[in-house]
Amino acid sequence: MSTSPGMYELILRKRNRGRLSPAEIEGLVAGYTSRDVPDYQMAAWLMAVYFRGMTSEETAALTSAMMNSGRVFDLSDVPGPKVDKHSTGGVGDKVSLILAPLVAACGVKVPMVSGRGLGHTGGTLDKLASIPGFRSNLRFRQFRDNLQNHGCCIMGQTRELCPADRQMYALRDVTATVDSIPLIAASIMSKKLAEGIDGLVLDVKTGTGAFMSRTPQARRLARTMIGIGSRMGKKVVALVTGMWEPLGQAVGNSVEVVEAIEALKGNWRLDLEEVTLALGEEMLLLAGRAGTRAQARRLLMRALTGGAGLDRFRAMVKAQGGDPAVVDDYDLLPRARYTIPVLSPDSGYVRLIDALQVGLLAVELGAGRKTLKSKVNPGVGLRFCKKVGDRVEPGEVLVEVLAAEKKLGAATAARLLQHLTVSRTAPRDGGRVVARLSK
Ligand code: URA
Repeated sequence: MSTSPGMYELILRKRNRGRLSPAEIEGLVAGYTSRDVPDYQMAAWLMAVYFRGMTSEETAALTSAMMNSGRVFDLSDVPGPKVDKHSTGGVGDKVSLILAPLVAACGVKVPMVSGRGLGHTGGTLDKLASIPGFRSNLRFRQFRDNLQNHGCCIMGQTRELCPADRQMYALRDVTATVDSIPLIAASIMSKKLAEGIDGLVLDVKTGTGAFMSRTPQARRLARTMIGIGSRMGKKVVALVTGMWEPLGQAVGNSVEVVEAIEALKGNWRLDLEEVTLALGEEMLLLAGRAGTRAQARRLLMRALTGGAGLDRFRAMVKAQGGDPAVVDDYDLLPRARYTIPVLSPDSGYVRLIDALQVGLLAVELGAGRKTLKSKVNPGVGLRFCKKVGDRVEPGEVLVEVLAAEKKLGAATAARLLQHLTVSRTAPRDGGRVVARLSK
């Protein structure tokens, strides 16, 4: 596509609330992938979409154009149902690390293409990269073989998979056009549909730490993604789950790997357990491995308590070049130099831990990226000793700041206190699974 007037006309039409045909959307995506459409015109079009939205036909056309901009994996020769789980992004969300091996141990193949951290949210790939030797830049053949042999494999988005999404996402990240329902839905679904899956369970986050902080918006995002999936003949279920406080105790990279391994050993906080098992149940139901939620729960618990989930995690790490000994020796993982405790000033109950602010502070510490080129420090982060609802006494440790520099760690500790509230009365625990949506 030439830079103008074709692209000019498409920007103008979207700006003026008009619709684009599937062929026009396909041409626009192809033009951007081949670099015929320049960044400034694509940025203008994305901003027009941000304000004017897209119809479900346009969103489906965008998803399909992005999916077809690269290779679409064919896993049909790998026997068994293939079901993935995807989160829209949160703080302390290490669920994929636990769920992929656990569900694989229940007989479902879990092909996962995951991402790096985005903004204040953490990324599965960054967490796994803290395991010495772990490689996520696999070729398709290796991904397929690991999936067949071990039941799960987590890789990153390579050059061949949805290149249009990679380019557009990078542009959205710097042009304030991330939090748009059709753009998020098309971005996520194009990658997931290119994985060669039969079914998908979505964890759509709502709350301060989510991209869609309000629950009605999160529900709309879930419905949009379910609609795209069913148009493409895939089974999609979504759980809307709370991201008001960080999930579990750890926020960072190696510290979250430790928490995930502990979870696979059966030691986890209630919120992490609740969200992980609820998503796991949906995956087993979608795959046809269980007929009821209770049956699915029993299968998951058996894989957990019998150690089969942990064995799959070890096997997955080894198959991807990582050191499986980390499972038994956490000293093999990177560690921050300083641990700075944040003490409770009052007695009472933890009422609020602002997930967004915690995510931003974790990025400041080096657990995430401030720019596309920033390097992540795998050992830094935060460890919450108390969570919302827990009783605390004055002087008890609320959080540990894991920092590479003492000054930054102390400053983070001071700022954290502004985003934690302790009150006299215990907050009501309404659970983390807010809604379940399906076609
Ligand atoms: N995750 C994605 O992959 N894409 C988005 O647009 C937002 C979250």
